[in-house]
Amino acid sequence: MKIATLTMNPAIDKSSAVTQVVAEWKLRCEPPEYEPGGGGINVSRAIQKLGGESAAFYAAGGLAGRMLSDLLDREGLQHRAMSIAGVTRENFTVLEKSTGRQYRFGMPGPTLNEAEWRQCLEKISGLLPQADYLVASGRLPPGVPANFYGRLAKLAREHNTRLIVDTSGEPLRLAVAEGVFLIKPNLREFAELMGRESVDGLEEERLARELVSANKCEVVVVSLGAAGVLVASAEGAERVRAPLVPIISKVGAGDSTVAGIVLALARGQSWREAVRFGVAAGAAAVMTPGTELCRREDVERLYEQLMKRGSS
Ligand SMILES: Nc1ncnc2c1ncn2[C@@H]1O[C@H](COP(=O)(O)OP(=O)(O)OP(=O)(O)O)[C@@H](O)[C@H]1O
Ligand SMILES: [Mg+2]
Repeated sequence: MKIATLTMNPAIDKSSAVTQVVAEWKLRCEPPEYEPGGGGINVSRAIQKLGGESAAFYAAGGLAGRMLSDLLDREGLQHRAMSIAGVTRENFTVLEKSTGRQYRFGMPGPTLNEAEWRQCLEKISGLLPQADYLVASGRLPPGVPANFYGRLAKLAREHNTRLIVDTSGEPLRLAVAEGVFLIKPNLREFAELMGRESVDGLEEERLARELVSANKCEVVVVSLGAAGVLVASAEGAERVRAPLVPIISKVGAGDSTVAGIVLALARGQSWREAVRFGVAAGAAAVMTPGTELCRREDVERLYEQLMKRGSS
């Protein structure tokens, strides 16, 4: 197993549609659709769409937890639930057909107790010897200490597993303090990590290089939305502009970017190629409706374009 993903706070994303959302009325919705969700799980799904393999590990409990496992089975994904007493969360999205507005209801995850999150760490620790890359993605659920990804970083280092962390706030800061292989914050998350209100232009490059030279991250990929990414590593810093694509839904862009980068690296491709494959996957995710991730044929076409463009 080359790539493993970890989702501490997965979800079932339930979606439906109704003509009009009105308070007090009984709203007759269309038959709901169910999709597995959560950072690491989405990265695993995007890797699969790109023709690659990974194993998804996640904390899950209750009926919704079982349903999540069932949904992942149906997608043919390699996965393993780490069992918890709480019930896996369900998010709910309703499309109001008369206006095209989307109402998105997010739920907090179940609270994990200390024995549970310690057990998750132990299980992950047991699989690290077989994993070249571990992608820890998403927010931590209530009860899990902010230094959880930091603890994971220590374990990953002991096993020579390259840890990729995609999260925000204190959990990201503490993971970086411990030292990780790669982070992929967006500009807002990156500014927060660096203790700034905002960062711009040349400053983001200098700050990303600083993180690398302080040995806190081997690679920093700051995602800049439609502008693409800024990558900093020991080899220097580079900006890769995103291709111009029709914007249908931005959901899943970040997860697809991470999936593209880690899959290309696990396949032994160069940095230059991996970053472009990630940018292509992120742009391809923007072209697909709703929560749909990236489509392989879009990614491959955009990747060819980016490789032809030369540097920048
Ligand atoms: N409008 C766009 N056009 C082309 N590519 C885009 C666009 N928006 C995002 N991307 C691609 O997707 C990548 C990730 O997007 P973004 O920077 O918005 O990440 P994010 O904020 O982490 O997203 P998410 O909300 O999915 O976590 C970008 O670096 C870029 O390559
Ligand atoms: Mg993100």
